[in-house]
Amino acid sequence: MARKRILTGYRPTGKLHLGHWFGNLQNMLALQEEYDAFYFVADWHAMTSMWADTGDIRLYTEEQVLDWIAAGLDPAKCTIYRQSDVPEVAELAMYFTMVTPMSWLERVPSYKEQREQISDKDLGNVGFFLYPLLQAADITIVNADLVPVGEDQLPHLELTREIVRRFTNTYGEFLKEPAALIPKEGARVPGTDGRKMSKSYGNAIFISDSPDEISAKVMSMLTDPARKLKTDPGDPDICPLHQIHKLIGEPGVIAEFDSCCRVAGCGCVSHKQKLVADLTAYLAPFRERRSELATRPGYAWEVLDGGAARVRPVVNQVLETVRRLVKLDEV
Ligand code: TRP
Repeated sequence: MARKRILTGYRPTGKLHLGHWFGNLQNMLALQEEYDAFYFVADWHAMTSMWADTGDIRLYTEEQVLDWIAAGLDPAKCTIYRQSDVPEVAELAMYFTMVTPMSWLERVPSYKEQREQISDKDLGNVGFFLYPLLQAADITIVNADLVPVGEDQLPHLELTREIVRRFTNTYGEFLKEPAALIPKEGARVPGTDGRKMSKSYGNAIFISDSPDEISAKVMSMLTDPARKLKTDPGDPDICPLHQIHKLIGEPGVIAEFDSCCRVAGCGCVSHKQKLVADLTAYLAPFRERRSELATRPGYAWEVLDGGAARVRPVVNQVLETVRRLVKLDEV
Protein backbone atom coordinates (compact mmCIF):
# COMPACT_ATOMS: atom_id res chain seq x y z
CA MET A 1 0.00 0.00 0.00
CA ALA A 2 1.18 3.52 -0.75
CA ARG A 3 2.52 5.38 2.26
CA LYS A 4 0.29 8.07 3.66
CA ARG A 5 1.21 11.58 2.73
CA ILE A 6 1.96 14.20 5.36
CA LEU A 7 2.72 17.86 4.97
CA THR A 8 3.72 20.68 7.24
CA GLY A 9 5.23 24.12 6.80
CA TYR A 10 7.04 26.74 8.85
CA ARG A 11 7.05 30.43 8.20
CA PRO A 12 10.69 31.48 7.77
CA THR A 13 11.26 33.68 10.79
CA GLY A 14 14.94 32.92 11.42
CA LYS A 15 16.89 30.33 13.35
CA LEU A 16 15.00 27.47 14.98
CA HIS A 17 14.84 27.34 18.77
CA LEU A 18 14.09 24.80 21.46
CA GLY A 19 10.38 25.58 21.19
CA HIS A 20 10.39 24.34 17.59
CA TRP A 21 12.56 21.36 18.47
CA PHE A 22 10.38 20.02 21.28
CA GLY A 23 7.08 21.30 19.88
CA ASN A 24 7.09 19.75 16.41
CA LEU A 25 10.51 19.23 14.83
CA GLN A 26 11.36 16.03 16.72
CA ASN A 27 8.02 14.67 15.55
CA MET A 28 8.82 15.63 11.95
CA LEU A 29 12.08 13.66 12.16
CA ALA A 30 10.29 10.53 13.29
CA LEU A 31 7.56 10.92 10.67
CA GLN A 32 9.97 11.16 7.71
CA GLU A 33 10.78 7.49 8.33
CA GLU A 34 7.20 6.22 8.00
CA TYR A 35 5.40 8.63 5.73
CA ASP A 36 5.68 10.27 2.36
CA ALA A 37 6.65 13.56 3.99
CA PHE A 38 6.49 17.06 2.51
CA TYR A 39 8.08 19.83 4.56
CA PHE A 40 8.05 23.29 3.13
CA VAL A 41 9.15 26.84 3.91
CA ALA A 42 6.05 29.02 3.87
CA ASP A 43 7.67 32.16 2.49
CA TRP A 44 4.44 33.58 1.08
CA HIS A 45 2.87 33.14 4.50
CA ALA A 46 5.75 35.08 6.05
CA MET A 47 5.16 37.74 3.44
CA THR A 48 1.49 38.23 4.42
CA SER A 49 2.65 40.10 7.52
CA MET A 50 6.16 41.18 6.39
CA TRP A 51 4.95 42.51 3.04
CA ALA A 52 6.37 45.96 3.57
CA ASP A 53 9.80 44.67 4.53
CA THR A 54 10.64 41.42 2.80
CA GLY A 55 14.43 41.81 2.91
CA ASP A 56 15.05 39.06 5.45
CA ILE A 57 12.85 36.32 3.99
CA ARG A 58 15.57 34.77 1.81
CA LEU A 59 18.10 34.69 4.65
CA TYR A 60 15.52 33.19 7.04
CA THR A 61 14.56 30.60 4.43
CA GLU A 62 18.15 29.50 4.09
CA GLU A 63 18.70 29.40 7.86
CA GLN A 64 15.57 27.36 8.35
CA VAL A 65 16.54 24.77 5.77
CA LEU A 66 20.05 24.39 7.22
CA ASP A 67 18.64 24.11 10.76
CA TRP A 68 16.13 21.49 9.59
CA ILE A 69 18.83 19.39 7.98
CA ALA A 70 21.28 19.79 10.86
CA ALA A 71 18.48 18.64 13.17
CA GLY A 72 18.11 15.49 11.13
CA LEU A 73 15.59 16.06 8.35
CA ASP A 74 17.05 14.13 5.44
CA PRO A 75 16.39 15.46 1.92
CA ALA A 76 16.74 11.88 0.69
CA LYS A 77 13.82 10.78 2.89
CA CYS A 78 11.49 13.77 2.83
CA THR A 79 10.71 16.46 0.30
CA ILE A 80 11.90 19.89 1.45
CA TYR A 81 10.75 22.75 -0.72
CA ARG A 82 9.85 26.40 -0.78
CA GLN A 83 6.24 27.51 -1.21
CA SER A 84 7.01 30.23 -3.75
CA ASP A 85 8.82 27.67 -5.95
CA VAL A 86 5.43 25.98 -6.40
CA PRO A 87 3.24 28.77 -7.76
CA GLU A 88 0.61 26.14 -8.56
CA VAL A 89 -0.46 26.53 -4.94
CA ALA A 90 -1.68 30.04 -5.82
CA GLU A 91 -3.87 28.60 -8.57
CA LEU A 92 -5.50 26.17 -6.17
CA ALA A 93 -5.92 29.03 -3.67
CA MET A 94 -7.70 30.96 -6.44
CA TYR A 95 -10.29 28.19 -6.82
CA PHE A 96 -10.67 28.12 -3.04
CA THR A 97 -11.44 31.86 -3.02
CA MET A 98 -14.50 31.02 -5.13
CA VAL A 99 -16.07 28.60 -2.64
CA THR A 100 -15.02 30.28 0.63
CA PRO A 101 -17.40 32.79 2.20
CA MET A 102 -15.63 35.85 3.58
CA SER A 103 -17.28 35.26 6.95
CA TRP A 104 -15.33 31.99 7.38
CA LEU A 105 -12.05 33.87 7.12
CA GLU A 106 -13.24 36.72 9.34
CA ARG A 107 -13.95 34.39 12.21
CA VAL A 108 -10.60 32.52 12.22
CA PRO A 109 -9.29 33.11 15.77
CA SER A 110 -5.68 33.86 14.77
CA TYR A 111 -6.92 36.47 12.31
CA LYS A 112 -9.09 38.25 14.84
CA GLU A 113 -6.40 38.09 17.53
CA GLN A 114 -3.58 39.37 15.40
CA ARG A 115 -5.64 42.19 13.92
CA GLU A 116 -6.43 43.28 17.48
CA GLN A 117 -3.00 42.79 19.02
CA ILE A 118 -0.45 43.68 16.39
CA SER A 119 -0.22 47.41 15.93
CA ASP A 120 3.28 47.87 14.52
CA LYS A 121 2.37 46.31 11.16
CA ASP A 122 -0.45 47.03 8.74
CA LEU A 123 -2.43 43.78 8.52
CA GLY A 124 -5.35 45.22 6.57
CA ASN A 125 -4.06 43.64 3.34
CA VAL A 126 -5.93 40.94 1.46
CA GLY A 127 -2.89 38.61 1.65
CA PHE A 128 -3.08 38.47 5.44
CA PHE A 129 -6.85 37.93 5.30
CA LEU A 130 -6.27 34.97 2.97
CA TYR A 131 -3.57 33.43 5.17
CA PRO A 132 -5.65 30.40 6.27
CA LEU A 133 -7.07 29.90 2.78
CA LEU A 134 -3.55 29.76 1.37
CA GLN A 135 -2.70 27.25 4.09
CA ALA A 136 -5.65 25.13 2.93
CA ALA A 137 -4.18 25.20 -0.58
CA ASP A 138 -0.70 24.25 0.73
CA ILE A 139 -2.16 21.15 2.29
CA THR A 140 -4.45 20.06 -0.51
CA ILE A 141 -2.05 20.82 -3.38
CA VAL A 142 -0.35 17.52 -2.47
CA ASN A 143 -3.64 15.98 -1.28
CA ALA A 144 -2.10 15.34 2.15
CA ASP A 145 -3.71 12.84 4.51
CA LEU A 146 -2.18 14.19 7.70
CA VAL A 147 -0.75 17.47 8.92
CA PRO A 148 1.68 17.40 11.88
CA VAL A 149 1.21 20.70 13.70
CA GLY A 150 1.05 22.20 17.16
CA GLU A 151 -2.31 22.72 18.80
CA ASP A 152 -2.39 26.41 17.85
CA GLN A 153 -2.94 25.40 14.21
CA LEU A 154 -6.13 23.38 14.79
CA PRO A 155 -8.53 26.16 13.73
CA HIS A 156 -6.64 26.44 10.43
CA LEU A 157 -6.94 22.69 9.91
CA GLU A 158 -10.66 22.85 10.64
CA LEU A 159 -11.08 25.64 8.11
CA THR A 160 -9.15 23.59 5.54
CA ARG A 161 -11.57 20.72 6.05
CA GLU A 162 -14.55 23.06 5.63
CA ILE A 163 -13.13 24.52 2.42
CA VAL A 164 -12.48 21.03 1.04
CA ARG A 165 -16.06 20.00 1.89
CA ARG A 166 -17.45 23.08 0.15
CA PHE A 167 -15.24 22.38 -2.88
CA THR A 168 -16.44 18.76 -2.93
CA ASN A 169 -20.09 19.77 -2.69
CA THR A 170 -19.71 22.30 -5.46
CA TYR A 171 -17.48 20.49 -7.97
CA GLY A 172 -17.29 16.84 -6.95
CA GLU A 173 -15.22 14.59 -4.76
CA PHE A 174 -11.47 14.39 -5.16
CA LEU A 175 -9.61 16.44 -2.55
CA LYS A 176 -8.95 14.80 0.80
CA GLU A 177 -10.02 16.27 4.11
CA PRO A 178 -6.73 16.29 6.01
CA ALA A 179 -6.45 15.32 9.67
CA ALA A 180 -4.17 16.97 12.23
CA LEU A 181 -1.38 14.96 13.77
CA ILE A 182 -0.57 16.52 17.14
CA PRO A 183 2.64 15.35 18.84
CA LYS A 184 1.94 13.08 21.80
CA GLU A 185 3.83 15.22 24.26
CA GLY A 186 3.85 18.48 22.37
CA ALA A 187 5.97 20.17 25.00
CA ARG A 188 5.32 23.82 25.62
CA VAL A 189 8.80 25.17 26.12
CA PRO A 190 9.23 28.26 28.30
CA GLY A 191 11.66 30.94 27.18
CA THR A 192 14.38 32.46 29.36
CA ASP A 193 11.83 34.89 30.84
CA GLY A 194 9.18 32.25 31.59
CA ARG A 195 6.81 33.22 28.76
CA LYS A 196 6.33 30.84 25.83
CA MET A 197 9.60 30.58 23.89
CA SER A 198 9.36 32.77 20.81
CA LYS A 199 11.83 34.69 18.72
CA SER A 200 9.63 37.77 18.85
CA TYR A 201 9.75 37.81 22.68
CA GLY A 202 13.58 37.78 22.59
CA ASN A 203 13.58 34.85 25.04
CA ALA A 204 14.65 32.03 22.71
CA ILE A 205 17.54 29.60 22.98
CA PHE A 206 18.41 28.71 19.39
CA ILE A 207 19.47 25.18 18.61
CA SER A 208 22.55 26.61 16.86
CA ASP A 209 23.61 28.81 19.82
CA SER A 210 27.32 28.64 20.73
CA PRO A 211 28.39 27.47 24.21
CA ASP A 212 28.95 31.13 25.15
CA GLU A 213 25.49 32.12 23.99
CA ILE A 214 23.93 29.21 25.86
CA SER A 215 25.81 30.17 28.99
CA ALA A 216 24.87 33.87 28.79
CA LYS A 217 21.18 33.03 28.25
CA VAL A 218 20.89 30.32 30.88
CA MET A 219 22.80 32.23 33.57
CA SER A 220 20.37 35.14 33.18
CA MET A 221 17.27 32.95 33.16
CA LEU A 222 14.31 33.52 35.37
CA THR A 223 13.73 30.95 38.12
CA ASP A 224 10.93 30.69 40.68
CA PRO A 225 10.29 34.45 41.24
CA ALA A 226 9.29 33.84 44.87
CA ARG A 227 12.71 32.33 45.63
CA LYS A 228 14.72 35.46 46.41
CA LEU A 229 17.43 34.00 48.63
CA LYS A 230 19.27 30.72 48.44
CA THR A 231 17.78 29.92 51.83
CA ASP A 232 14.18 30.28 50.51
CA PRO A 233 12.65 26.99 49.38
CA GLY A 234 11.62 27.06 45.70
CA ASP A 235 8.96 25.48 43.49
CA PRO A 236 10.54 23.69 40.48
CA ASP A 237 7.11 23.26 38.88
CA ILE A 238 6.96 26.96 38.07
CA CYS A 239 10.68 27.40 37.36
CA PRO A 240 11.43 27.77 33.62
CA LEU A 241 15.01 26.63 34.21
CA HIS A 242 13.75 23.39 35.67
CA GLN A 243 11.14 22.93 32.91
CA ILE A 244 13.81 23.15 30.22
CA HIS A 245 16.21 20.95 32.16
CA LYS A 246 13.48 18.29 32.47
CA LEU A 247 13.36 18.02 28.68
CA ILE A 248 17.04 17.16 28.30
CA GLY A 249 18.54 16.12 31.67
CA GLU A 250 19.05 12.68 33.16
CA PRO A 251 16.03 11.74 35.30
CA GLY A 252 18.22 11.15 38.38
CA VAL A 253 19.79 14.58 38.12
CA ILE A 254 16.41 16.23 37.56
CA ALA A 255 14.92 14.49 40.60
CA GLU A 256 17.86 15.63 42.71
CA PHE A 257 17.51 19.29 41.71
CA ASP A 258 13.77 19.03 42.22
CA SER A 259 14.04 17.86 45.79
CA CYS A 260 16.96 20.03 46.86
CA CYS A 261 15.23 23.16 45.45
CA ARG A 262 12.10 22.43 47.49
CA VAL A 263 14.05 22.38 50.75
CA ALA A 264 16.49 25.16 49.80
CA GLY A 265 19.29 22.61 49.79
CA CYS A 266 20.92 24.05 46.68
CA GLY A 267 20.91 27.38 44.88
CA CYS A 268 19.75 28.40 41.42
CA VAL A 269 23.29 29.26 40.30
CA SER A 270 24.51 25.67 40.62
CA HIS A 271 21.39 24.50 38.79
CA LYS A 272 22.04 26.99 36.01
CA GLN A 273 25.63 25.82 35.67
CA LYS A 274 24.47 22.24 35.31
CA LEU A 275 21.86 23.23 32.68
CA VAL A 276 24.54 25.14 30.73
CA ALA A 277 26.71 22.01 30.70
CA ASP A 278 23.84 19.66 29.79
CA LEU A 279 22.37 21.90 27.11
CA THR A 280 25.77 22.56 25.56
CA ALA A 281 26.37 18.81 25.31
CA TYR A 282 22.83 18.11 24.09
CA LEU A 283 23.09 20.61 21.25
CA ALA A 284 26.73 19.83 20.32
CA PRO A 285 26.03 17.30 17.51
CA PHE A 286 23.50 19.67 16.01
CA ARG A 287 25.88 22.63 16.25
CA GLU A 288 28.66 20.67 14.55
CA ARG A 289 26.47 19.55 11.65
CA ARG A 290 25.11 23.06 11.34
CA SER A 291 28.54 24.67 11.08
CA GLU A 292 29.65 22.02 8.62
CA LEU A 293 26.63 22.82 6.41
CA ALA A 294 27.40 26.53 6.65
CA THR A 295 30.69 25.90 4.83
CA ARG A 296 28.79 24.67 1.77
CA PRO A 297 27.61 27.78 -0.05
CA GLY A 298 24.38 27.32 -1.92
CA TYR A 299 23.59 24.01 -0.25
CA ALA A 300 20.18 25.09 1.12
CA TRP A 301 19.15 26.32 -2.33
CA GLU A 302 20.25 23.04 -3.91
CA VAL A 303 18.07 21.16 -1.45
CA LEU A 304 15.12 23.45 -2.21
CA ASP A 305 15.60 23.05 -5.98
CA GLY A 306 15.66 19.28 -5.58
CA GLY A 307 12.52 19.40 -3.43
CA ALA A 308 10.70 21.60 -5.95
CA ALA A 309 11.52 19.12 -8.70
CA ARG A 310 10.07 16.31 -6.60
CA VAL A 311 6.89 18.09 -5.56
CA ARG A 312 6.08 19.46 -9.01
CA PRO A 313 4.75 16.22 -10.56
CA VAL A 314 2.60 15.68 -7.47
CA VAL A 315 1.00 19.12 -7.61
CA ASN A 316 0.53 18.95 -11.36
CA GLN A 317 -1.38 15.75 -11.05
CA VAL A 318 -3.64 17.21 -8.37
CA LEU A 319 -4.25 20.41 -10.36
CA GLU A 320 -5.05 18.50 -13.53
CA THR A 321 -7.96 16.82 -11.79
CA VAL A 322 -9.01 20.05 -10.09
CA ARG A 323 -9.11 21.92 -13.41
CA ARG A 324 -11.31 19.21 -14.84
CA LEU A 325 -13.59 19.29 -11.81
CA VAL A 326 -14.10 23.05 -12.03
CA LYS A 327 -14.72 22.46 -15.75
CA LEU A 328 -12.00 24.78 -17.04
CA ASP A 329 -10.44 21.77 -18.70
CA GLU A 330 -12.24 19.14 -20.71
CA VAL A 331 -13.56 16.29 -18.63
N1 TRP B 1 0.43 28.58 9.71
C1 TRP B 1 1.59 27.80 9.99
C2 TRP B 1 2.35 28.44 11.15
O1 TRP B 1 2.22 29.60 11.39
C3 TRP B 1 2.51 27.68 8.80
C4 TRP B 1 1.87 26.97 7.65
C5 TRP B 1 1.58 27.51 6.44
C6 TRP B 1 1.45 25.61 7.62
N2 TRP B 1 1.02 26.56 5.63
C7 TRP B 1 0.93 25.40 6.32
C8 TRP B 1 1.48 24.56 8.55
C9 TRP B 1 0.41 24.15 5.95
C10 TRP B 1 0.96 23.33 8.17
C11 TRP B 1 0.43 23.13 6.88
O2 TRP B 1 3.13 27.76 11.79
